[in-house]
Amino acid sequence: MTSRILVTGGTGTLGRLVVPRLRDGGCEVRVLSRRTRQAADGIEYVTGDLSSGEGIEAAVDGAEIIVHCAGSSKGDEDKTLNLVRPASRAGTQHLVYISVVGADRIPVVSAVDRAMFGYFASKLAAERVVTDSGLPWTTLRAAQFHDLVLTVAQQMAKLPVMPVPAGFRFQPVDASEVADRLVELALGTPAGLVPDMGGPRVYLVADLLRGYLRAHRRHRMMVPVRLPGKAARAVRTGANLAPERAVGHRTWEDFLAERVHEET
Ligand SMILES: NC(=O)c1ccc[n+]([C@@H]2O[C@H](COP(=O)([O-])OP(=O)(O)OC[C@H]3O[C@@H](n4cnc5c(N)ncnc54)[C@H](OP(=O)(O)O)[C@@H]3O)[C@@H](O)[C@H]2O)c1
Repeated sequence: MTSRILVTGGTGTLGRLVVPRLRDGGCEVRVLSRRTRQAADGIEYVTGDLSSGEGIEAAVDGAEIIVHCAGSSKGDEDKTLNLVRPASRAGTQHLVYISVVGADRIPVVSAVDRAMFGYFASKLAAERVVTDSGLPWTTLRAAQFHDLVLTVAQQMAKLPVMPVPAGFRFQPVDASEVADRLVELALGTPAGLVPDMGGPRVYLVADLLRGYLRAHRRHRMMVPVRLPGKAARAVRTGANLAPERAVGHRTWEDFLAERVHEET
């Protein structure tokens, strides 16, 4: 039977990998975006903004399943509230949410924590909105995507000296592998909070940056910076990692090699 699915954030890094997988799996796919777009490649687009709630009633209308990938560095709790209320009224049967590894382990208590790690608190608050929505739900927490690490490396390499958070490690995962898992979850029965998804290896941030510089034949000095606050301390102890869930296959080196190949 064909499922009608709404993908929020279907234009983003993760969402645009989820959308074709669902379509190719035989689903009728609708994408929510703040920008108006014409239907293309068998995908319907609806215009709406989760921050204001505008257009969301129409977006959720008839959607049996919602894969909620829309997000930004802050305000995901309110965006999710503006989604679940109309979705409940519309009788959505399954809400699938993507959160981040460590959302429940990184304490965001002070202004310093909030300034640097407010994202984790906002993801946890959004998870709670999903849990309390009354809708059948599934939440997957994923580690940082390779694309995000690449963006950070590109920005930092613009500086003559790269400040590196001392003791920070990441376990980057490929967004395409997260998309595969989300699709599997979306087409399955609501499962609640499922096991975390991390990439195949844990790296010191300095090593991730060195890998980027090596792949691009660039040289930069790195200076370790000890970040203050409880959240930073938790990250230094590995609260953002899921070493027991190193289920991703594609490594940072594989990802970089492909990107460099594409650039040349
Ligand atoms: N990136 C990571 O490393 C990572 C790791 C773990 C979890 N996650 C989570 O995965 C999700 C997707 O991340 P991503 O990296 O793919 O994000 P992204 O590339 O920045 O894309 C964000 C998406 O959210 C949509 N969006 C943002 N604000 C919106 C609003 N007010 N109303 C409607 N849509 C809105 C954007 O759509 P339009 O611009 O078309 O409106 C866009 O499609 C997020 O929830 C993120 O927290 C990300």
